[in-house]
Amino acid sequence: MAAGLTPGVLRAQPEASGLGAIARQHGVTFGAAVQDSLLQKDADYARAFATEPAMLVPEWAAKWAALQPEEGRFETAALDTILRWGQAHAQPVRGHALVWHNSLPDWVVAALGEGRERALSVLGAHLDHVLAHTRTQIRDWDVVNEPIANPPGSDEPQTAPGDLRDTPWLRALGPGYVETALRMARERDPTLRLTLNEYGVAEDTPAAAEKRRRLLALVRGLLSRNAPLDAVGIQAHLQLANPFRPEPFAAFLGALREMGLAVLITELDIRESWQAPQDLAARDALVAERASAFLACALGAGVRTVLTWGLTDKYSWLATEPAVALPGGRAHRGLPLDAAFRRKPMWDAMARAFRGA
Ligand code: G3I
Repeated sequence: MAAGLTPGVLRAQPEASGLGAIARQHGVTFGAAVQDSLLQKDADYARAFATEPAMLVPEWAAKWAALQPEEGRFETAALDTILRWGQAHAQPVRGHALVWHNSLPDWVVAALGEGRERALSVLGAHLDHVLAHTRTQIRDWDVVNEPIANPPGSDEPQTAPGDLRDTPWLRALGPGYVETALRMARERDPTLRLTLNEYGVAEDTPAAAEKRRRLLALVRGLLSRNAPLDAVGIQAHLQLANPFRPEPFAAFLGALREMGLAVLITELDIRESWQAPQDLAARDALVAERASAFLACALGAGVRTVLTWGLTDKYSWLATEPAVALPGGRAHRGLPLDAAFRRKPMWDAMARAFRGA
């Protein structure tokens, strides 16, 4: 139970400084995923984003479906809204995501089916435009998102053979597509930080252990061929239904850092189990406890950038995505602020973790 909170009553008066300011005092960058439309239409949301994060990542606006919905037609208004907001609030924006199998317009999937040359040309044109457009503001991109195949025992295990996720990119360009994408990004911007971003590698389950092994193998292979890779992003969509033990995760983070890579926590949120208790305070305490354990491990292993996937339960994907929503209309409480933008025990746990960094 988070100290100082009577069950069910959340503190009315927030602390002066947000998580970003607290984290910065201890050499850590805290950020959050942001939706441009909500900055414009929800004053409470805008106030929370002015207060809490020191970095932003577009939740949608930098994905292929948002940026190039039709071949040759680039839509950057939504991303530019976020870039302008970031500039006005001294919040750098990281990019998510250049190559991904999700949120790909149909025209790209069709083009990727037309052979290697067409695939390279489509990818090159996207990178040309997007990296040039964002060059002065986005200095770190998730170049490839979720390249690893889900092992047996994971939520959506892949049946196709191989350690790489079976995607239109893999089919069009072969297993070297990750290296190809990294090299094409590097050719276009020599000082951009190039990040691989992945999920399902944080918890103490056989599936997560196997996915960690697969990701390490991919990274080692890339570095052995001198592929331009600077960082690995760990999404950290944690699930209370899965155990977390610091030792295997710390060893994994250590292995990445020993290879000279930066490691970021890119999409932290905490999904409750279906057996979640009814009592809000009890639920919040479980979420806060997992946040504490996870961040103590990550920060202890040298992670210095932590982003949550949103700030408030009100707009979390956990509340709307049917595959993860709780039964009976209960909304997950997996982000630092509740649906009324009040700081929860998870917020306190994160502040304590940053102070202990
Ligand atoms: O499709 C409309 C589009 O036509 C419209 O222009 C746009 C305007 O905002 O909205 C689009 O709607 C939805 C979009 O979110 C914006 O809210 C998309 O249909 C919907 O698929 C999309 O879902 C996002 C999902 O990624 C797919 O991109 C979720 O919000 C977002 O939370 C989720 O985030 C992913 C990370 O990128 C990768 N890691 C997992 C994480 C959770 O799934």
